[in-house]
Order: sequence, then C-alpha cells, then structure tokens
Amino acid sequence: MKEVKIESTLYVYENIEELPVEAAHLMQKAFQARDRAYAPYSHFNVGAAILLDNGEIITGNNQENASYPSGLCAERTAIYYAGSQYPNAKVVRMAISATSKNKPTSNPIPPCGACRQAIAEYEVKQDSPIEIYFMGEIGKIAKSGSLANLLPLVFDKSVL
Ligand code: THU
Repeated sequence: MKEVKIESTLYVYENIEELPVEAAHLMQKAFQARDRAYAPYSHFNVGAAILLDNGEIITGNNQENASYPSGLCAERTAIYYAGSQYPNAKVVRMAISATSKNKPTSNPIPPCGACRQAIAEYEVKQDSPIEIYFMGEIGKIAKSGSLANLLPLVFDKSVL
C-alpha cells in the first residue's frame, strides 16, 4: 500500500481591481448575468460568463423550478448554451459570481460538483485548459488554471 497525495493550486486575488483586465471584464459580465438569475426558492443568485476563443462571451445564470431538481446551475446553463451555439469553439475561461439574500458572500464560491463534471467534459473535448475565476458578491477571487485542477480523478471518456 502506498499513499497518493493529490494537490490543487488556486491563485487568490484580493479584489476585482487586481484581476487581469480581461478576467475583470468577464467577471463584470458574470455579475450582470447573476442579477438576472431566476432563484425564487433559494434566493441564491449565481452568474457565469464564458469567453470563447472566437471572442464571443456567453453568459448564464441559475434557473430554478418549483420541482427543485428540475432547476439548473448558472455554470451549466452557460456552458451548454455555448456548446449548443458554438460547437467548434474552445472555452478559454469562465468567471462565476454568487450572491445570497440570506447572508453575505464575501469568500470565493466554487462551482458545484455537477458543474465541475459538466465543464470537465468540454475541457477534455477541446484538449486545452479552461481557466475558472470564482467569487462571492464582493471580496477575494480565486482562480484555477484548469477545471482538472478543481476536479482531480475526473470521470471522462478515457474510461469508456
Ligand atoms: N447553484 C449554481 O448556480 N451553481 C453552483 O455551482 C451551485 C449552486 C445554484 C443552484 C440553485 O439554484 C442555487 O444555486 C442554490 O443551490
């Protein structure tokens, strides 16, 4: 038996002013999308903005449903739309921001496991890393250089 350690690396920016200008612009798009979220049940609004290698910016937000599991997260709303509209484009980066009506969100809020799995599919498909920037409403922003870094031991097509 041997121990196997798995490491992930995040880069943490103090605030949006410290971000590279292109990432800050994408985060602003995520803010705008977040503010259009349909989240009457959780009151937890999430926005995601995606930059494609053709220059297009695609945004999405969470869409909830009275039948709770029928709702969808912001990140998947955005990436499925990008995949459906631009099937041959590569995803360069994604910016995510979340706010809650129940409590302040001033720490980086990472994408849920299901969204990581969904984004991983596109990272594997395009064979190049997708940068992920995530934050709450204000405060620090975390950057992951790839989706794989956020989802070690990914389940992908290589096992099928
Ligand atoms: N949500 C997202 O949009 N993205 C995530 O990564 C986690 C959760 C949404 C789903 C639901 O509408 C609300 O946030 C509370 O879970």
